[in-house]
Amino acid sequence: ALPRDLQGRRVVVSAGGTAEPLDPVRTLGNRSSGRQGYALARVAAQRGAHVTLVAGSTAALDPPAAVEVVRVGTTEEMRTAVLDAGKGADVVVMAAAVADFRPQSVAGFKIKKGDTEPDAIRLTRNPDILAELVAERVPGRLVVGFAAETGDAENDVLSFGRAKLERKGSDFLVVNAVGGRTGHNAFESADNEGWLLGADGSSVQLPMGSKAALAARVWDAVADRLA
Ligand code: C5P
Repeated sequence: ALPRDLQGRRVVVSAGGTAEPLDPVRTLGNRSSGRQGYALARVAAQRGAHVTLVAGSTAALDPPAAVEVVRVGTTEEMRTAVLDAGKGADVVVMAAAVADFRPQSVAGFKIKKGDTEPDAIRLTRNPDILAELVAERVPGRLVVGFAAETGDAENDVLSFGRAKLERKGSDFLVVNAVGGRTGHNAFESADNEGWLLGADGSSVQLPMGSKAALAARVWDAVADRLA
């Protein structure tokens, strides 16, 4: 039987990718499947948490049982939904692949091929939702980030991850090694591996396994810290 160590806790998980409109029919997005975030939401609910899953674009996934799902498109929509649900939360996990940039302006009509060379797309920076969660964190609330790092040695990935954790200021950072040494792409795979780094200096290796198994290890550490 699963532990009920998240009983009564309020948890928010973001999953999938954000997509930024260029015109009424086109978006700039990414290949995040949402599988890791869905697994985190499902496992948290199984362990007794009240879960809100804020989902951007994902593969065709079954919604986890007993989880409130909020669908969003853009980064701004994800920001509003996550900060709103995060207000009463004990834990917020940002597993989403948030678009770092969006088109500076959105055409009101479908952009035509025309007879000339296409214009360049001007981009502007999106807000960092994780940074805002950290800035608004109240005592007792935990904020967990994800990071995909490429590196040819374990040490690269770990030191990039450690530096990012310090920069972001979250309580935990899950670091996935993508490409490089392992050649493994966490985005397109059913499996995942990496490290769970804690702001207290801890690091736990997350062995290659299902995204549900990795989620369970993350919740173990979070439940420990909440206790
Ligand atoms: O800096 P980097 O994008 O690698 O950080 C990844 C982490 O930050 C993830 O948890 C992601 O969900 C979050 N993030 C965010 N808002 C952004 C970009 C990333 O919350 N605009």
